[in-house]
Amino acid sequence: MNEVMLKNQQIVEETFDTIIDSEFAKDVVYGLSQSQKRLSSKYFYNDAGSRLFDLITEQPEYYLTRAETNIIQKNGSQFFTRLEGTPFNLFELGCGNGDKTFSLIENMLDAGQHFSFYPMDISKVAIDGLVKNLHQSFPLLNVQGLLGDYHQFLPQIHTLGKQQRNVVLFLGSNIGNYTTTQAAELLSDLYKGLNSGDFLLIGMDLKKNFDRMTAAYNDKNRVTEKFNLNLLCRMNEELGANFDVNKFTHYEIYNPLDNAMQSFLVSIEKQLIHFSTIDLDIEFDAFETLFVESSHKYSFRDIDILAQKSGFEVLESYTDDKQDFVDSLWQRL
Ligand code: AVI
Repeated sequence: MNEVMLKNQQIVEETFDTIIDSEFAKDVVYGLSQSQKRLSSKYFYNDAGSRLFDLITEQPEYYLTRAETNIIQKNGSQFFTRLEGTPFNLFELGCGNGDKTFSLIENMLDAGQHFSFYPMDISKVAIDGLVKNLHQSFPLLNVQGLLGDYHQFLPQIHTLGKQQRNVVLFLGSNIGNYTTTQAAELLSDLYKGLNSGDFLLIGMDLKKNFDRMTAAYNDKNRVTEKFNLNLLCRMNEELGANFDVNKFTHYEIYNPLDNAMQSFLVSIEKQLIHFSTIDLDIEFDAFETLFVESSHKYSFRDIDILAQKSGFEVLESYTDDKQDFVDSLWQRL
């Protein structure tokens, strides 16, 4: 262990002794001290990152959001017809800007379904904006925003709504950004939190031609690159780091061993980064990578196996016209 590594080891230990009271700082210290540097993609989504993600969804190569919008437009009124008029609680995990939700709710109300809506999000701005818009457009709809990290709500989700029956929306291939272990934990918490017979509608990106997937994460306008580099800006702003974004590039490939698009930031030269608020130094070698995101892709068989392992049954697979994406309807056993 060299001097910098020894000092960082101490900082890791002290950090976990709560000297630094921020999960972000702790994850940075820990993740950037590993031999393969890594940082969770959940840190992409500060205000600037959320705006950049919205822009990604408009890029011609990024087919995922358009595909799911197409599914919702075609099937939004049918997803939950099997509830046959029974009133239910509709929960959404991580509602974001709410464009897709809006169209889904419109379809469901037009089809005469009875439900109260509970969007969950960590961003107060996102929740407040969505609730306000929904009140304006659908004054009779009962909407109650749940502010916070949705993971905390999952194990007791059946206690949160007014009705007996629960339906959970987990759209946008957000599950794809979880590691296999994290996805299993989330689904197990949902299994605990739901009653037998409750429903989950989960959005997943289907395995397809590698070039199309690779293009989706390497758009010509380089918005995805900016989105990834924004992580460095965030560390500069919040942790006093001195990253120069011009000394890093974005590299993204499909890894068939992990069934995932994998995203890295690459240091184009040897450099030392200092984090002034946590007195941390991190060395990057030339062409050393920081692993920042996995976006898992699924086959119908993968989806069946995942549902079964988690205590759910796949009832229906709703796909878009090009069969790029699926909104899979699961029932809790
Ligand atoms: C939010 N999530 C499903 C996106 C994805 O496709 O994995 C995030 C993203 N990363 C780069 N482009 C989009």
